Amino acid sequence: MTIVLGIESSCDETGVGLVRLDGDGRLELLADEVASSVEQHARFGGVVPEVASRAHLEAMVPTMRRAFEVAGLKLSDVDAIAVTSGPGLAGALLVGVSAAKAYALSLGVPLYGANHLAGHVAADTLEHGPLPSPCLALLVSGGHSQLLRVDDLATRITEIGSTIDDAAGEAYDKVARVLGLPYPGGPPIDRAARRGNPRAIAFPRGLTGPRDAEYDFSFSGLKTAVARWVEARERDGEEVPLDDVAASFQEAVADVLTAKAVRAAERFDIGTMVVSGGVAANSRIKALAAERCAAAGITLRVPKPRLCTDNGAMVAALGAHLVAAGVEPSSLDLSATPGLPV
Ligand code: KG4
Ligand code: ZN
Repeated sequence: MTIVLGIESSCDETGVGLVRLDGDGRLELLADEVASSVEQHARFGGVVPEVASRAHLEAMVPTMRRAFEVAGLKLSDVDAIAVTSGPGLAGALLVGVSAAKAYALSLGVPLYGANHLAGHVAADTLEHGPLPSPCLALLVSGGHSQLLRVDDLATRITEIGSTIDDAAGEAYDKVARVLGLPYPGGPPIDRAARRGNPRAIAFPRGLTGPRDAEYDFSFSGLKTAVARWVEARERDGEEVPLDDVAASFQEAVADVLTAKAVRAAERFDIGTMVVSGGVAANSRIKALAAERCAAAGITLRVPKPRLCTDNGAMVAALGAHLVAAGVEPSSLDLSATPGLPV
């Protein structure tokens, strides 16, 4: 039995998770505490790196204390520590990495640098158990939009495609701003879209032409198209049908994401798809993914929203997979790597 502590600080969430790895490779979630600085960024319409770093500094120790309290554990019970070392914001990552190094040194336990993207996939194993190999992961959040082939969570993840400009969540946040909706934009657009007609406006689907990269995404053109459409309406003094715009924008995002993910799964003969990241909470993306996966005979796994958004439990889960796979721990020279690839 191994207790793994996971620390996450790559963006605006300070996350501390504790998991227990049993001898048979099973994971049990013991604590998952998150402190978010999202409200401090709201008035800027996006995450302000300096503000995020300071918030991590303030939240790290109290979040750590809460996690140990919830789990009923002491620091000395920890057998290994995993920390997100990238990708993410440099200053934000450094807070978690520095804390993890200090705890690892003082407790005399191994330290593992964890890839944030792999962590998002690992989150699903906390809810649905071990992943079959291979599986396809669609990661969609405010910072990333990627299609990954996962042969082994600890050692073998390959990128099949990614966004060439904005992340899906970023597009939601920017479109929300255009529509006068609050940040983060995903939840209010999702709600407005339920009242609107997804076929009201034919917004463009990026990178779906015959000569375009088959598994890459592009959301910047879609965001601009929505802004232009709204501006034109306003210029003409016409009312903007907010619910229809939200529904039509959301349909374009959900359509492209799920079509490309299912096509990749079919092409590479992968029978299981995991959708994770904050945008995986989206009702239409979940529904369309379920519909298209069922039609293609693909098993769909979507963790609950709490595990989809940034958290420390996913890092602890990935750490447990690294321990179980016998991966060499990092040295205390571990640093933050903002552009860390999968
Ligand atoms: O994973 P996450 O919490 O943080 C990042 O790593 O970015 O994702 C946050 C993103 C935000 O852009 C937010 O607007 C989006 O996830 N989001 C949603 C929904 N809930 C959150 N996007 C679409 N629909 C939702 N229901
Ligand atoms: Zn994330």
